[in-house]
Formats: sequence, structure tokens, C-alpha cells
Amino acid sequence: MRKYIVPGLLSLFALLPLQARQGMPRLQKQGTATQLIVNNEPFLVLGGELGNSSASSVEDIRRIFPKLQRMGLNTVLVPAYWDLLEPEEGTYDFTLIDEAVHQARQNRLKVIFLWFGAWKNSMSCYAPLWFKENYRKYPRAHTQTGKPLEIASSFSENVYQADSRAFARLMKRLAAIDKEEATVIMVQIENETGMLEDARDYSPDANERFHAPVPQALTDYLLANKQTLHPQMLEKWGKQGYPLKGNWQEVFGADIYTDELFMAWSYAQYVERMAQTARAIHNIPLYVNAAMNSRGRMPGQYPSAGPLAHLIDVWHCAAPHIDLLAPDLYDEGFTAWVAQYKLHNNPLFIPEIRLADNNGVRAFYVFGEHDAIGFCPFSIEDAPDHPQSPLIQSYARLNELIPLLARYQGKGLANGLLFDEKNRERILWQDDLKITCRHYFTLPWDPRAANGTPWPEGGGILLKLNRNEYLVAGSGIVIEFEHRNEKNAVPPQPLGEDGFTANGENKDRRKAEMWSGLRAGIGSVDEVAINGDASFRYIRRLNGDQDHQGRHVRIPSGQFSILHVKLYEYK
Ligand code: DGJ
Repeated sequence: MRKYIVPGLLSLFALLPLQARQGMPRLQKQGTATQLIVNNEPFLVLGGELGNSSASSVEDIRRIFPKLQRMGLNTVLVPAYWDLLEPEEGTYDFTLIDEAVHQARQNRLKVIFLWFGAWKNSMSCYAPLWFKENYRKYPRAHTQTGKPLEIASSFSENVYQADSRAFARLMKRLAAIDKEEATVIMVQIENETGMLEDARDYSPDANERFHAPVPQALTDYLLANKQTLHPQMLEKWGKQGYPLKGNWQEVFGADIYTDELFMAWSYAQYVERMAQTARAIHNIPLYVNAAMNSRGRMPGQYPSAGPLAHLIDVWHCAAPHIDLLAPDLYDEGFTAWVAQYKLHNNPLFIPEIRLADNNGVRAFYVFGEHDAIGFCPFSIEDAPDHPQSPLIQSYARLNELIPLLARYQGKGLANGLLFDEKNRERILWQDDLKITCRHYFTLPWDPRAANGTPWPEGGGILLKLNRNEYLVAGSGIVIEFEHRNEKNAVPPQPLGEDGFTANGENKDRRKAEMWSGLRAGIGSVDEVAINGDASFRYIRRLNGDQDHQGRHVRIPSGQFSILHVKLYEYK
């Protein structure tokens, strides 16, 4: 039979960017969210990053990848080591790269390669020996006192040429082996770039540029984006009176944070050239990761000038071909850190977080609260692989939820929940509902609340599907629904696990109660699984003791589930 092609559709197809037609991994906006599209479907990275030395032999790759599949990961972040990829200058060896892609396919994993090139945690330890030894050709950054560091200078064209030549060969290899399958879904350029010991490089080239005028591209950018600049950038530039001309100290003031801005411009420009090279060869999403400016440290005590939130305007202006700045999270204050990296101009992707029991609930939190692109505990090969481990339970439920979450991302219908012993409660509002969410141990009859048991973090996702219809997923949470107009002048009496008044008290208190308006009731709570088309598959009804006889919805600590909740109104 003859096939007809509708001319309108054909021309529309031709207008799509090449990567969209080919199903290349790409980023796409949906409302306020940025989605990673893989094989033409929205994809959440349920990932893990390998330890630094764990992809340096074929045997290790073969041993580790099957374990990651058993654990339910869908993506592994794999270092691509410059020293092993180009052991002799101009001689390239792709054995490890090919094996990682091959093993990923065998084990149904996607890969994100991390280019450990000129910089890894600021240092140049992954540069090949031929590069390290030739310090005259490949100069180092220097401290203010003239100390040479094992940090290649970002101001050296020779450094850039050597690094980018090898990186380009990596990208060509990916283009050759992966255009069809799209196993490799993103690439990270360098790792935690930044200057240590001082806030900036003091090598002769660097000093010369520091005293030159600030590039007009940057001041033009600041002016054009003044309304949306990062508050720290706006304040710093504002203190000088928003000048548009002058050297770095004249435009931004003479302090260590200006040194950092200057250095960020240099690193970002360097990375931008790498990104342009990569995109011309194999156009997939690119990102950079940052070590945090935490614990009261100053630039140079932490890696100065890395892709940090307060430097986002410099990085965006100098490196427009980088898709996102990603935080590596090893410090206290998780919710505050992630909030810093989910910005109107930056989607949240967590390439590294310390491996811990709380990873499972934290993954739920970032997907629910921040429409995150991905979550990846570090040194993932060391994680336990027994099915009851929190991360494995969490990833299994999240994996089911991907099609559903993808549909609702960016529309303001989802919230992430995260509780511990200090942060026990959060109140949310939807339509006419007051929704009180708490840690599971706040149930007054749970003995673990008070017997010295450490409170495991509890967390999850609350997703509004429709008016009076919700999805609750996660672990260690309790949720109560109340109508906005439901009024009771008297605080409710504490109830026991059976729902009866816990202790006898003066019955006259009831006389003071005043009720008006509708009340919200629980119609049904079903534990469900999610099918690939985002429809629900009934597992069991949770009623009676399991929903406190219709008073709340809960998921015990240590157990991860997905609940479909229907509410109703009565008076
Ligand atoms: C952050 C780095 O990016 C990782 O490669 C690793 O060094 C961890 N820190 C800590 O081990």
C-alpha cells in the first residue's frame, strides 16, 4: 500500500532541531521545571556516582555495574580519566569508556561521564604524566607568595589545547558508539573546578588580566539582567554604584570576593570553549559541579570560583553552553543547599551526595519540592544491595513514579516533605484544604518518639491529582487534611492509637466547641503501584488502624509506599 506523508507534518518535522528528531538526550522546559528528555521521554536520574578509582579497570566495571542494576539505579556517573585515556601524548585508549558503555547497556543503565581533565577537586591530578612534567609548556597557577600549585593555569592556551584535544576525542568516541542508543545522557566537564590556597591565580598572565578592564560582555550582561541577578551579585556590584567600566576592583570592589569573580570568569570561559567543542561533536546536555562554600570558609579555603550559586551570573554569561550548575552535597543543611541551586535559571541536579541511610527520603524530597533532574549518592558501589535498604526501596517506588511525576512537573502541584527530630511538621495549603504533614514519630503512641531511638529522616512527595484527590509517597510521614472553614475553638483532645480519648478529662470543655462550614473527610486510601502509562494498579486498601479510622494518611518509617488518597466534604 502506498504511504502518504502529510506535507504540513513533514515540514514541521524538518523544523525540529536535529537532536529532537534523533531522540538525542536534551533538556526541555515544562512550566517552571526543566526536564531531561532521554529516548524522547522525560527521565529522572535515579543515579549514583562511582568512587574516584572505581572505573579504572575493566574488571571493576564488570564487577560493579550488575550490582547497580540490582539496586534499581537507572544511571551511573562514571569518571573518564584523562591520564588513562591519553597515556602518551596523542595516543588515545578508549577501552574503559567502551567497557562502561557496554556494561551499562548489558545492565540497563544510562551513563553520565565525568571528564576528569585539567581539574579534579581543583587539582590537576588526573592530567597525564607527560603533561604534568612539562610545566614550562603547561604552566601552573601560583599563590600570592609565588608558590606553584598542582593546579594547571586556566589562563594558559597550551593547557586548554591539551585538555580540550583529549576531551574532543572522548566526545568523538561517544558520537561514534552512542548516537543511536543514547546510553550516555549527559557529560560533566571537569570536576569541582576552583582555586585553592588563594582566591585567585597570581601567575604573571593572571595578574595582567586582573588589572585589565572587566570584559564588556560581563557588564552588558549584568545590566541586561539586573532585575534577576543573584542577590549577592547585585549587592556587590551595587555597593560600587553599578559601574559599567573599569578593572575588576573598580567595578566590584577590592576584596577577596572580587578575586573570586575574576577567577570564575576565567574558569567559565575555559569551560565554555570545551562545551562548544563538545556540542559541535555530540550534542548532549553538559553540566559543571561545585564543591560548596560551606562551614564559614573563604574563597581559597573552599575551591574559589567554582560553579557556585552566588557566581551563577558570571558562569551564565561566560559559559552559555553549560546547561546547569550542580551542587555536591556533603554538608549539614541539605534543604537550604538544594534551595540555592533550584533557581529560575538553574534546574536542580545533584551529581553527588554523601552516601547515607537518609538518601532514600531525600531523593523523594528533591523530586517533589524542586522538580529535580536527578539524585546521585557518591561512591554508590559501596551501598548495601539488600532489598530492604532504604535507597533500594526508595528508587523502586520512584522508578514507578517517573511517568506520573513527569506529567505533573513544573505546574505547582507537587511538594517535597522532609522531617527529622528538629523539623517535625510542615503545613501546606491546596484549594480549601489545610494539609498538616508530620514525621511519623509524632504519633503520640509511637514509643520510639521518646525512648531515645534516633529519629530516621522521614520524607516524601505530596502530589495534588485533582480537587480532593492526592498521591502521597515516601516513608516515615503522617498527613492530616482539614477544611479551611472547619472551625473549632477548642484544641482537639489527644487520642490514643485506637482513636479514643487518651485520658479522662472535664467533659465541660466540649461546650466551648464551635463548628461551622464543611469538614474534610478521608474517602479512601489505597496503596498502589504505578504502571508505565502512569495509571494506578491497586495493591491494597488501607483503612481502620492503618488510617487511624479515617483521621490521617500515613506511611511508617522504614517502609516506602505510594498511596492514592480520595477526600470528601461533609457537614
Ligand atoms: C567531591 C568530589 O567531586 C568527588 O570526586 C570526591 O572526591 C568526593 N568529593 C569525596 O570523596
